Amino acid sequence: GTTLGASAAESGRYFGTAVAANKLSDSTYVGILNREFTMVTPENEMKIDATEPNQGQFSYGNGDRIVSHAKGQGMRVRGHTLAWHSQQPGWMQNMSGSALRSAMLNHVTQVATHYKGQLYAWDVVNEAFADGGGGGRRDSNLQRTGNDWIEAAFRAARAADPDTKLCYNDYNTDDWGQAKTQAVYSMVRDFKSRGVPIDCVGFQSHFNNNSPVPSNYQTTLSSFAALGVDVQITELDIEGSGSTQAALYQRVVQACMAVARCNGITVWGIRDSDSWRSSGTPLLFDGSGNKKAAYTSALNAL
Ligand code: XIL
Repeated sequence: GTTLGASAAESGRYFGTAVAANKLSDSTYVGILNREFTMVTPENEMKIDATEPNQGQFSYGNGDRIVSHAKGQGMRVRGHTLAWHSQQPGWMQNMSGSALRSAMLNHVTQVATHYKGQLYAWDVVNEAFADGGGGGRRDSNLQRTGNDWIEAAFRAARAADPDTKLCYNDYNTDDWGQAKTQAVYSMVRDFKSRGVPIDCVGFQSHFNNNSPVPSNYQTTLSSFAALGVDVQITELDIEGSGSTQAALYQRVVQACMAVARCNGITVWGIRDSDSWRSSGTPLLFDGSGNKKAAYTSALNAL
């Protein structure tokens, strides 16, 4: 294929990007988006603070705009994200206990119902595990409502939108030897054994010098897939430039291609200037929208 999306499709996979609704009027941005990508993740527009800014008052305008653009171009959409410790609206940040548990479940139900049948997958829960060697849950107001908050969120999402894949999504879960990776693996194994509805695991894969592409990345993907879930690379960006960066992109794409249940890869932005990172050049297109060496190596590895 001559584009990321077309090449990924040759093996039944997708190639996606994060999209910001306020950039849909940028013609360079939209030109690359429509040409190259077959999956879209709203970068912020489906998060809790965006979709329920006041308790019980839902706001879907920007999320709907992205879904409508994607559909018009024959692209699919990954929903991101229903339950997370971050980007909570003020009203939720101040809640705890059973009131917060009910508010979280109501949020999951309402938002999943609004998008019912329209999305390829939902990141139901994002970043619920702690960094470091402990292998435990991240402390948060949601975690303090009880250890079963994650499965409660998945059950509510399944009840509201039965045909959309439901994913757990996290970062620093790429290295098979890390405690955080093993902790998420144990949770997914437990969910599968008890019939908690989970269909996929998302690996954010934000790589840099402190968090390099691990040598066992493919082992991580295949080990999770062996539990009976799909795996997806959901927020890929790799710090660096030139041939070094290109080689790393190639390795990540090759790892996904080698795992049958790795359905697709999403990069976290289009041009370097679209990246959430405050500095650096972690994406596939430069600030002017030109293809980088990393683009070519990713394309050739598909
Ligand atoms: C980031 C967005 O890219 C930024 O625009 C926003 O200010 C903060 O969030 N992990 C995630 C994403 O799951 O939602 C984050 O996105 C990046 C890290």
